[in-house]
Order: sequence, then C-alpha cells, then structure tokens
Amino acid sequence: MSQSIKGFSKLSKEAKLEWLAQTHFERPEAALDLLKSYWHPDASVQKRHDEFIENTVSNYYLPFGVAPNFLINGKTYVLPMAIEESSVVAAASKSAAFWLERGGFKTEVISTTKIGHVHFIHWGDAQRLHSVVEEHQERFYAATEHITANMRARGGGIVSIELVDRSADEPGYFQLEARFETIDSMGANFINSCLESFAQTLREIVVEAPAASEADREVQVVMSILSNYTPECVVRAEVECAVAELNEGGGMDPVEFAEKFARAVRIAEIEPYRATTHNKGIFNGIDAVVIATGNDFRAVEAAGHAYAARSGCYTSLTHCAVENGRFRFWIEIPLALGTVGGLTALHPMVQWAHELLGHPNARELMQIVAVSGLAQNFAALRALTTTGIQKGHMKMHLLNILNQLEATEAEKAEIVAWFADKVVVHAEVVRRFCELRDIPVPAPKVTRN
Ligand code: HMG
Repeated sequence: MSQSIKGFSKLSKEAKLEWLAQTHFERPEAALDLLKSYWHPDASVQKRHDEFIENTVSNYYLPFGVAPNFLINGKTYVLPMAIEESSVVAAASKSAAFWLERGGFKTEVISTTKIGHVHFIHWGDAQRLHSVVEEHQERFYAATEHITANMRARGGGIVSIELVDRSADEPGYFQLEARFETIDSMGANFINSCLESFAQTLREIVVEAPAASEADREVQVVMSILSNYTPECVVRAEVECAVAELNEGGGMDPVEFAEKFARAVRIAEIEPYRATTHNKGIFNGIDAVVIATGNDFRAVEAAGHAYAARSGCYTSLTHCAVENGRFRFWIEIPLALGTVGGLTALHPMVQWAHELLGHPNARELMQIVAVSGLAQNFAALRALTTTGIQKGHMKMHLLNILNQLEATEAEKAEIVAWFADKVVVHAEVVRRFCELRDIPVPAPKVTRN
C-alpha cells in the first residue's frame, strides 16, 4: 500500500497529510483526525512548532513533570523533567527529599571549554606546516573577528588554535584543534562558523608561505566541525552524610546499606554490562532535564558515554566512597549546555522551565543537570540494593498497564488499592482486571517471527 514520492518537502502541510493518510492508512480520515487532534489550538504556537523541524505533520507529546525539593549549594529548585518513563520523576523527587534533610547537593563546574576541529589532509613538509600555523595565528583570529565580536564582548571566544599531527594513525591526516569559551550558549553554530573560517585561512596561509614543493602548498579540508565530546566542559555534583544517617527506610542497617550501595557502584565501575544500565539510569534524570530546558540530549548522551569510556574501558559515571563513617557519592560528567539561543528562545515550555529554575546561566544549569543524574542514580541504586527495582517502578507503571487495558476510573482506583501492599506484576494486573470485569483471562498473544 505504501509508496515513494518525489518533492514531498515542497507540498503544503495539508497536501502532505492527505498523501500520508491516503497511501499508508486503512482509515485515512481517522489517521488525519488523530494527527490534527495533537495540533495546538493557537495557530501561531503550532506554526512555531512546525518550523522547528522539516515536514512537520503534528506534535509528539512527552509528559512534562516536576521534581521538587532539590537543595543545590544552599538554594532550592524544582526540576522540570520531560520524559515518557514512569517512576523517573518519583525517584528524582524521593532522592531530592532524602538529601534535602542531609545537607543537599554540592556542585562545582570544573571547566567550560569546548573543542572543534578542521580535519584535513596534507602531503607536504609537516615541519613547515607547523611553522606556518604558528606564525599566522593572528590571521585565524582576525578572519573570525566579525563572528566572535559578540562572544568576546560577553567574555568568551576562541581560546586556542593548535596543529595536531595524526598522520601516524591515518596517512596525511592533520587537525587544526581549536578551543572555545561560549559562555551561556551551547555554541555549536558559533564554533562551526569559526572552524569553517579557520579552514579558509589555513588554505590561504599554506599557499602564501614560502614552499619547497607543490605538496607543501596544498591542504585538502575533509571537514570542519565541533566535537560533541567535551571532556574539558565538566561538572561535578556530590552528596555526603554520616553513614549513620543513611536510614533509608527499608529497615536495612545503615552500615550494611552503605556497603552494599558502594559495592553496587564498584560493580558498575568494573563491569561494562552493568555500567551501561547504571549510566542509562543516570541519563533518565539528565535527559529529562536537558529536554525540558531545550538542550540537545543526543550531544549530552554522546559526550557522557565517550567520557565514561575515556580510560579505554566503559565504566560508571558515578562513584562512591565509604570512609571514616562518612558516605560520599558523586558524579563527574561533561555537559555542554546552553541557556540562550536555540530552542531556549523559541519553545514556550522551555521558557517556562527556565523561569521555574530562576533563569539559570549555563554554568548553573550544568550543575542542576548533573544533580538530576546523581539523584536518579541514587534512587535506582537504593531501590536495587534494598527492595529491588520492580516494587517501586511497577507501582508507578501500574496506571500504564491499566490504561492499556482501557480500565475505567473506578476500576483503576480499585486495582491501585488492591496492589497498594503488593509488588505489581503485569500478568497479575491483567488477572485482577479480568476478575473485576468477570471476563476470562486472555491467552498470551503469540507473535510470529
Ligand atoms: P516509595 O517509597 O514507594 O514512595 O518509592 P512513597 O509513596 O513512600 O513516596 C516517597 C516520595 O517518593 C514522595 O514523597 C515523592 O517524593 C516520591 P512525597 O511527595 O509524598 O513527600 N514519589 C512520588 N512523586 C511523584 N509521584 C508519585 C510518587 N510516588 C513517590 N506517584 C519510588 C517509590 C518509585 C520513588 C522508589 O521505589 C524509587 O525511587 N524507585 C527507583 C525507580 C527508578 O529508578 N526508576 C527509573 C526507571 S528504572 C530504570 O530505567 C533504571 C535502572 O535500570 C537503572 C539501574 O539499573 O541503575 C533501574
């Protein structure tokens, strides 16, 4: 039934919808109605959303939740979280409340430098190339003055430009490696504009400088692009308390809990299978706040995972120490975030999220986001090392199961009450639901491969 099409991007929105509905859906009217039911009632808001990306046909809702009681460096915050997974917001909130009574989170921005490269090939004399780049440093800065003027006025700009010889790994391969300070912007467009200018300047200075051969005068620019790996844009967040204060509520002795918790972190430090899930739990918190505040979660995730593997072995992003009766738990993570530009200036919900946080600058947002990851990891490890994850997670997921079953509000209330003191298991929910409706429990569906 489906088919390909040329010139789809040039069609009007209505024509796109019509083509999709007629060619891909058994009930075209129903398909159109569903898409349109997700349009914003205010046409100007919808137009703004349409223009964020290309070929927009509707909106895709994510729940937008809040987690209160985050005490960070003595200031309390309510964190905005956009995420589809149940129990994440509850877990963050529970962690926040726990640490609120134990001094809160302490954070520190370690560095804020971002990096980008002009990747190029050069077959000439490497020593001459080195000298040319060194001698003409000011040309790179001068050629980008119009791009960097505003950033310099804010205290940022280009930090350094260096030649890196990578020809031992790939014949002829060199880089211009540049460092940038982008203050409150994530800086991707600024950095890429500077890099494209550097590439042009590089071509010019290599041609102009005295040369012994034709090869000396040639550079083949492969690409000019920022790196989303930002190991020099790093933030640290930490919690600390006396071990005796770790009365986690599940009845476990605080010393036993601290040791078991620290062991769970050590397992993530040495075992990549566990580290991946452990870090996924950290990103439950980080991504939710990053999305709510209009930042690029793909860039943040890519940097976080690369950083977790920087020793050559993928490991935990959080660490824990239990020493001299004290429990310490911390995260160190690269976070390249912006509080100006991009979606922050365009998406009404993003603007709301920034106001909720008190209009943080990029450094403050880095600290808030790192805390969301640490808090999330604390909640998950606390559950994993005490009750098991399913008890709390499935308690939150129960409504999703009941909604899948199309339970009425009265049925939901009754089943939620039934599971109040039981661990929720999918099959048990279905059984209880069928019992309540007095219908047979359906046989399990078999899917063919
Ligand atoms: P609980 O103790 O049953 O909750 O925990 P409670 O009903 O006693 O409430 C305590 C507090 O939790 C509340 O305080 C809230 O802060 C929060 P209050 O507001 O009443 O003063 N809370 C809620 N907040 C909002 N809505 C709710 C709600 N319920 C509790 N409905 C909880 C229940 C789920 C919080 C706990 O069991 C928990 O933290 N579990 C961990 C859940 C988790 O990590 N979920 C992430 C998804 S699982 C995953 O993907 C990651 C993982 O694989 C990572 C890894 O392996 O490391 C686990």
